[in-house]
Amino acid sequence: MSNKIAVLPGDGIGQEIVAEAVKVLECLKSDFGLSVEMENGLVGGAGYDASGTPLPEETLKLSREADSVLLGAVGGYQWESLDIAVRPEKGLLGLRAELELFSNLRPAILYPQLADASTLRADVVSGLDLMIVRELTGGIYFGQPRGIRTLDNGERQGYNTLVYAEHEIERIGHSAFKIAMKRDKRVTSVDKANVLECTELWREVMERVAKEYPEVELSHMYVDNAAMQLVRAPKQFDVMVTTNMFGDILSDCAAMLTGSIGMLPSASLDANGKGMYEPIHGSAPDIAGQNIANPLATILSVSMMLRYSLNQVEMADKIDQAVNRVLDNGLRTKDIHSEGMQEVSCSAMGDAVVAALRS
Ligand code: IPM
Ligand code: MG
Repeated sequence: MSNKIAVLPGDGIGQEIVAEAVKVLECLKSDFGLSVEMENGLVGGAGYDASGTPLPEETLKLSREADSVLLGAVGGYQWESLDIAVRPEKGLLGLRAELELFSNLRPAILYPQLADASTLRADVVSGLDLMIVRELTGGIYFGQPRGIRTLDNGERQGYNTLVYAEHEIERIGHSAFKIAMKRDKRVTSVDKANVLECTELWREVMERVAKEYPEVELSHMYVDNAAMQLVRAPKQFDVMVTTNMFGDILSDCAAMLTGSIGMLPSASLDANGKGMYEPIHGSAPDIAGQNIANPLATILSVSMMLRYSLNQVEMADKIDQAVNRVLDNGLRTKDIHSEGMQEVSCSAMGDAVVAALRS
């Protein structure tokens, strides 16, 4: 049976990078017998422009019915002054919430070919293979009450709420421990339990979940220290599990260890393994339309989709090998370019991955 993929390019460079990932899927279909169907939808600013909402009803329906969702990126300058309720980011947050994609996997792997592209010394980052497991549908991103209110003295006050129910902590804990079982069996839970009660509970529940995985070693770290350790000695980590907002911040930090945020894919999974796959970088409006973005994070997101949701491990391996081959051959988009390498456009990089798949 053929799997259905909802393809949501979104805004900015989303259009360009998703086009390259679709080329890769088309090649796997035509040359290697992958059985998938793709259908496009609008999300983010593109959705707002077409129908006044960043998550049009048809897009939500398409995404619910699909087996997997491939997303580019959302956001751009022209939508920044809109009311927060209809800003492009709400389209992405709405999809995460509606599809209950609570478990966000953000691997940070350093490709040996790119060791020089990192701003950190090669010996600090070489061999880096870290998995950040970010809670994605709770915490301060979604907590109520929230808003901006006017106090009695006429001053305005902004407020958000950090909340986690035990079941939310438990299920993200299980995700992290299950992944650790397939890796080096070490989980670091990141919190701010010295200040925030909500994460005191987080720590307690993680301890409880850990009892079900006696082979996995659990440690705890405060988020400020975790940020510092990520740039000091990132290789000490195997799996890091954390809240929605801490994960947002730490995953950008981890991404830069690998040289470019343009290399990192992500998977957002529900309880049954259905997922949305997207590069962790944003829509980069400053370089949109110039055909210079790096499509590899999106192409690697397709690989994660094949591996985690569509059970096509061999196809995923093929993509990973093709990406490695292209890097070995010295091809680099602008963000990862260094002396002696060949600088290529976004579309040329996509073509090169397709050529590597075929060779
Ligand atoms: C991410 C992004 C999003 C987030 C934005 C675009 C809403 O930064 O996926 O990391 O904050 O989760
Ligand atoms: Mg982010």
